[in-house]
Amino acid sequence: MTGFTHYLHTKIVFGDGVVGKVGEEVRKLGGSKALLVTTGNLLEITGYSDIILKSLSSSGINYVLFNEVEENPSIETCEKGAEIAKEEGVDTVIAFGGGSAMDAGKAISVLKSLGGRTSDYFFPKVVEGPTIPVIAIPTTCGTGAEVTRYAIITDLSTKRKMTMAGPSVLPKVAMLDPEVLRKIPKKLLAWTSLDALSHAIEAYTSKASTPISDGVALIATDYIIKYLPKAYEGDEGVKGKLHIASTLGGMAINDAGTTLIHSAGYYLTTHHNVHHGLANALLMPFILEYNLRYLDEEKLNILMRVTGTSSIEDFIKALCKLIDAVGIPDSIAEVGFKEEELDVIARDVMGYKRNIMNNPSPVDESIVKNLIYKALLGRSKVYGNLKYMA
Ligand SMILES: [Fe+2]
Repeated sequence: MTGFTHYLHTKIVFGDGVVGKVGEEVRKLGGSKALLVTTGNLLEITGYSDIILKSLSSSGINYVLFNEVEENPSIETCEKGAEIAKEEGVDTVIAFGGGSAMDAGKAISVLKSLGGRTSDYFFPKVVEGPTIPVIAIPTTCGTGAEVTRYAIITDLSTKRKMTMAGPSVLPKVAMLDPEVLRKIPKKLLAWTSLDALSHAIEAYTSKASTPISDGVALIATDYIIKYLPKAYEGDEGVKGKLHIASTLGGMAINDAGTTLIHSAGYYLTTHHNVHHGLANALLMPFILEYNLRYLDEEKLNILMRVTGTSSIEDFIKALCKLIDAVGIPDSIAEVGFKEEELDVIARDVMGYKRNIMNNPSPVDESIVKNLIYKALLGRSKVYGNLKYMA
């Protein structure tokens, strides 16, 4: 078997109401002053402002609020947060929000602790060294950023997503409270859950996958396929399953990384402002159909057994059914992508070397163009009559 490294680092606290114990967690880490990193008025919208502030105060923890994190956080935002963290002398970061707030929180911890500029830490550099602890509280069920050693930061000048990666980026504590998802808009529930599904399946098919990442990826896949349609239709009782599936997806990519789906999705986000999870969902069937053909037969059989499917075609059909059921547009044309961009996206995607390295199938510009062209035609045209499925 191929050798691998698996990190066991993040303490995961799961359960209804656990966010109310965030102060205790800061205290246990030896902290006394936290930077509370979030987006706009998310604390108020979700009803968690009082809960968190009360918990901090009853544990004697001071805090400074940094609520300027935008969707797809920029280098500038992370550096501003780090400046505040330094000026205020905080010893802990609490990141409350989706992947954006958590990734910004992780980058702020690195910059505050190790100094320098954000770009000093971009892949292929491995971020190592002592950093102040991050407590991550995800408010969506998609990114898994609460348990990953990555922070994805947008370089606005080049319109590219850059990655800070390394053991020092890992949050120290992840607090998973399914009650946080009570008020999540339906669209965001679907988009983020499909991001989590993408993590699970990309990790499972990644060349860097391990038996550990495979195990968690399969449970995440099973939960999302089973419970997302129910949660989307308003079943509150299953949201906990999606919350944990998202963390499992994060654990899977923490070892195995993501593949071509994510790198192509980055283009849609940076050039057409498409939500990250939606971008992956729009591309997933086409790229996955190609990638699954290169998957080890034993692993393919396990995936089909877990998902109750009988072939790659059958699996892709089931995936399309799920994606259709939660309101994802049929094609990338519907989010503004034009045929003239095929050359540009192919070049851009090839630049995400980490993803290309992990991809199980061969990739070059013409293969990328072909796959993206299918996504442009859309699911109903490509799979409606199964003419590409032979
Ligand atoms: Fe993702």
